[in-house]
Amino acid sequence: MGSNSLEINPIAGALGAEIHGLDLADPLDDVTFQQIHQALLDYSVVFFRDQKITPEQQLAFAKHWGDIHFHPHIPGLEGTPEVFEIVKKEDDIHTLGGEWHTDQMFTPTPVRATMLYAKQVPPQGGDTLFANAYLAYETLSDGMKNMLAGLRTVNTYNMKKKRAAAMKVNDINEEASEVEHPLIRTHSETGRKALYLSYKGITTRIAGMTDAESEPILGYLRQHMTRPEFTCRFQWQEGSLGVWDNRCVQHLAVNDYNGYRRVMHRITINGEATS
Ligand code: SIN
Repeated sequence: MGSNSLEINPIAGALGAEIHGLDLADPLDDVTFQQIHQALLDYSVVFFRDQKITPEQQLAFAKHWGDIHFHPHIPGLEGTPEVFEIVKKEDDIHTLGGEWHTDQMFTPTPVRATMLYAKQVPPQGGDTLFANAYLAYETLSDGMKNMLAGLRTVNTYNMKKKRAAAMKVNDINEEASEVEHPLIRTHSETGRKALYLSYKGITTRIAGMTDAESEPILGYLRQHMTRPEFTCRFQWQEGSLGVWDNRCVQHLAVNDYNGYRRVMHRITINGEATS
């Protein structure tokens, strides 16, 4: 399908757009992909509705963005190990991603983008919230920006994280290592600065400071970053597909559908060292 037929509709003031006019089961030409990628750079998270795709077709779409990242602890699907299933069953209480975060900050080169495809959704609830980390940075005072410039955070993988019991997770034997990232990250394509941190289980402290010194600063930034005016909310339907840019977006899976099953197929794209 040619790029001229794409329709890009913002879904909120801060970030997020729905793209219409594309069947992701079809091969994608470079011109159309570039238009989608530009929409991702402009809106930070983009969504498609009513897609009927196999894991192989989702993978083919994802590969336009780069090499695929394999989650270090969560195994993929048989046949398409690049795709892993996020599943919360009727009797699960916890969900993966139920706190504000950006994906895989516990690695030295966190994933650039995440693609989620809705296979099964509850009759209501199970939305995902997204927050614009550029706006969060840009709306800080000059005094705060100056104070944060040059600070780095310490990040780790939280072994005791509560997640849906239905999720398969490989045994983690090694000690969780600590990884540092800049608290203010410069986006490698747009050049814009964004706040870069996750919830306390991942972003544990500011490098060179104690927990007690770090927490008031990080706590304030977490609260500031997720102000309603910096967010959008996406209501998944079966066949919806979303792609977000982890360099400038935080997200949270809303866990408000106990008693129902939700199944999503996730692919992540390799990232680069942060700066
Ligand atoms: C995630 O954090 O990747 C999960 C998001 C979701 O399931 O809505």
